[in-house]
Amino acid sequence: MYVPENIGTPLSPNATTVMLLGSGELGKEVAIAFQRLGVEVHAVDRYENAPAHQVAHFAHVIDMTDPRAVRSLIEEVRPDFVVPEIEALATDELLAIEEEGVSTVVPTARAAKLTMNREGIRRLAAEELGLPTSRYEFCSTFEEFEVAAGLLGFPCVVKPVMSSSGKGQSVVGGPEDLEAAWEYAMSGARVSTSRVIVEEFVDFDYEITLLTVRSIDPGTTKPATWFCEPIGHRQRDGDYVESWQPMQMSDCALDNARSVAARITNALGGRGVFGVELFVSGDDVYFSEVSPRPHDTGLVTLATQRNSEFELHAKAILGLPIDVTLVSPGASAVIYGNVDSVAVTYTGLAEALSVEETDLRLFAKPEAFVRRRMGVAVSTAENVEIARERATRAAAAITVHPGSNVFDV
Ligand SMILES: Nc1ncnc2c1ncn2[C@@H]1O[C@H](COP(=O)(O)OP(=O)(O)OP(=O)(O)O)[C@@H](O)[C@H]1O
Ligand SMILES: [Mg+2]
Repeated sequence: MYVPENIGTPLSPNATTVMLLGSGELGKEVAIAFQRLGVEVHAVDRYENAPAHQVAHFAHVIDMTDPRAVRSLIEEVRPDFVVPEIEALATDELLAIEEEGVSTVVPTARAAKLTMNREGIRRLAAEELGLPTSRYEFCSTFEEFEVAAGLLGFPCVVKPVMSSSGKGQSVVGGPEDLEAAWEYAMSGARVSTSRVIVEEFVDFDYEITLLTVRSIDPGTTKPATWFCEPIGHRQRDGDYVESWQPMQMSDCALDNARSVAARITNALGGRGVFGVELFVSGDDVYFSEVSPRPHDTGLVTLATQRNSEFELHAKAILGLPIDVTLVSPGASAVIYGNVDSVAVTYTGLAEALSVEETDLRLFAKPEAFVRRRMGVAVSTAENVEIARERATRAAAAITVHPGSNVFDV
């Protein structure tokens, strides 16, 4: 993977350039981290004024699933690094672009392709690497789905192979739920395929994200892997509601978690941050999935780590030294839109920021939806219990109000 020998000057011919494919709240923080290192940032999304657009040198709007649109923009900008921020991309075109040496895809084009589809990453993890996962079946018709559920037993979990944030995903309690679960999965898929994964329901004690960083060790000048402290989180309908760091784990479970994370990230290769999602039951660790990029539950690291996961991603991409030091226990709590409206307004900031050791990020999304993540509160404290209470209280202090037809006047 390409390692820049120097950092140029943005907006000049020798600029070191990155192109973010996806410009949401995670991309916004990555853009800011690159800005601070003097890297020229091009932010791309399918709609105007996305969060990272607002802090980048250049904002581009294209259909990122259209191979021709992706290629023509990359050929025009010629970024040193293409940094995917979302899963739904023209990943075959990224493979070609990497192959031809046009740009370096982070962490690798293969990683982007494998993780876009649950089938690619699950088969790699379970069947090639032999990592422990829930039992699973893939199917493409309702009849196959019935058979798979029968094999795995109830409850089981069904997910479209291409979906994220819990879309189309449900827990099937018994045979009577099969039809509704299938209908829901068909409605939630990101692209028009009827393929789903059916997984055994894992009755885990808790789940974690293990942020794993691949960069270059300055001592040996060789690739190396670092692990952040584990992040615990709580999900509702497949979307994260709050997260905290560190998650208290037994030494044995932590060793197992690091071993699984090292094996999957090593197989994906390249440099950058990976969010390895694991289920933990006693000392047993099950691989669930992995993001080859910063993870939403890792927003907590904005408060807890010397380098947030976004700064670590930027540094790892450039092949720079990695410091995963945890400065304080902390927590994050999501602020939802709770309303469908463009140009919303936010109140309650003074109250939220009067909570001890607490900060806010408002993502500045042009449009709010009831279940859209519009911001996050992050807190530190002497332990995660207090930090969780602080972050939750601060997030609850923010109210999102519908915009008053500002564009109509
Ligand atoms: N097999 C399973 N057994 C028990 N719980 C599960 C299982 N699969 C998923 N879950 C629960 O649902 C959550 C979301 O699942 P998963 O990460 O696969 O979906 P996703 O749509 O990729 O979500 P995201 O994109 O937000 O990570 C998990 O974090 C976990 O809480
Ligand atoms: Mg997940």
